Amino acid sequence: MSHKVAPSVLSADFANLQRDVEMINNSAADWFHVDIMDGHFVPNISFGFPVVKAIKKWATKPLDVHLMITDPDRYLKDFKDAGADHITVHLEACVHLHRTIQAIKALGCLAGVAINPHTPVALLADIVADIDLVIIMSVNPGFGGQAFIEHTYKKVAELKALADEYNPDMIIEIDGGVTLDNAAKLVAAGATSLIAGNFVFNAEDQVGTIAALKKVTG
Ligand code: DX5
Ligand code: ZN
Repeated sequence: MSHKVAPSVLSADFANLQRDVEMINNSAADWFHVDIMDGHFVPNISFGFPVVKAIKKWATKPLDVHLMITDPDRYLKDFKDAGADHITVHLEACVHLHRTIQAIKALGCLAGVAINPHTPVALLADIVADIDLVIIMSVNPGFGGQAFIEHTYKKVAELKALADEYNPDMIIEIDGGVTLDNAAKLVAAGATSLIAGNFVFNAEDQVGTIAALKKVTG
């Protein structure tokens, strides 16, 4: 099965949000990637519930919500109510990760774990069987438009080996600096979902760029 493509709304034009959501609706994209930053876990603040609800109002595809926030447990239900279909929390932000994952599943969402560039894939070994997706950060979270970290390929391959053993259906999603320069190599290494913000929204032909990301083969 072909990999998923999830444009990151962080790079959208928020003064024309409905237009940009409809562009994604009418493209080959599979999901909307929705970045929540709290100014504590990451050194930036993005947007909150009213914007997630506004995206949900027009979106015809699932919302892949990435929580870059401390203490995500406090807000899981609020994000579900705002329209999240997938909720991903950071391993580095969760003291009781297994409990948090169960809480996300109890809400009826797909449950994901994100890891920062410095976090070893091996730390996922005892949670892989319980989760629906992993986001491997290929930049330090907090900003769109950063350069891709090359070490990511090795992590993708390591995670694929873990997934093959414990959870073959688990989605391996890559976030940060994804372009047509690295997409094919990521898919070849085992990525099954590509997030792209800057590369899609700064393109002259956004729909064409999404289609091109969808078409790469590993
Ligand atoms: C980074 C966010 C990413 C970001 C990706 O902290 O989690 O989802 O929007 O943007 P690009 O593709 O521009 O690196
Ligand atoms: Zn993200």
